[in-house]
Amino acid sequence: MKERLQKLISRSGLMSRRQAEVKIRQGLVSIDGRIAQLGESADPALEEVRVEGAQLQFDSHTLTLILNKPTGYICTMNDPQNRRLASDLLPKELGRLYPVGRLDYNTEGLLLLTNDGELAQHLTHPSHQVTKTYLVKVRGWLDDAGRNKLETGVPLDDGLTAPATVSAVRRSGKNCWFELTLGEGRNRQVRRMCDAIGLSVIRLKRIALGDLHLGELETGKFRVLQATELLRLKKNAGL
Ligand code: URA
Repeated sequence: MKERLQKLISRSGLMSRRQAEVKIRQGLVSIDGRIAQLGESADPALEEVRVEGAQLQFDSHTLTLILNKPTGYICTMNDPQNRRLASDLLPKELGRLYPVGRLDYNTEGLLLLTNDGELAQHLTHPSHQVTKTYLVKVRGWLDDAGRNKLETGVPLDDGLTAPATVSAVRRSGKNCWFELTLGEGRNRQVRRMCDAIGLSVIRLKRIALGDLHLGELETGKFRVLQATELLRLKKNAGL
């Protein structure tokens, strides 16, 4: 059934009608690949409606998005210390969305938020965990011995870490950057692994979750997952 575009977009949970009107006026909404005009209607069952490239999700009441979390935000739904919450960066119209897994207050990057309880549960269950890739900046140099420890397993107080992958190691003055891909997700795992090999983390950013990449998403901004990304994520999570 055809419906006014701004009504359709707000019904998808992405933003309010008023915000949708602004996006339409800015030429950021498309129907089947052509730029839509204010006043148009579309049928989501027959036509592909996209806002800033992201396809609207109409087939269910669930919503899943990624946020590029800045440092200085926490990933719980409330905080006794009144610190800023990652969910404060999302429009209220989206309703309650829960962070899947945590990023520390001082960690930035890809945070998945969803109201799909089944997806969240599968993604955090140890038997289905998808890989997580971090861009890590440490003081000092990651030498071959350190790299080998990160890749084969570091003894932490909650046990030996699972095999991990290190790539793209590069020097930057007295510091060094590298990418670290983990198949598990323990509390403060990257910082603790680096501490254990004598390197202190000075910047930490999650850049990928499975094959879902942060890409060019600006800090503090979010985007709804495209249908294909959601399908792949569900498949990776064993759904
Ligand atoms: N590892 C950490 O140390 N911190 C995070 O926020 C995520 C992974």
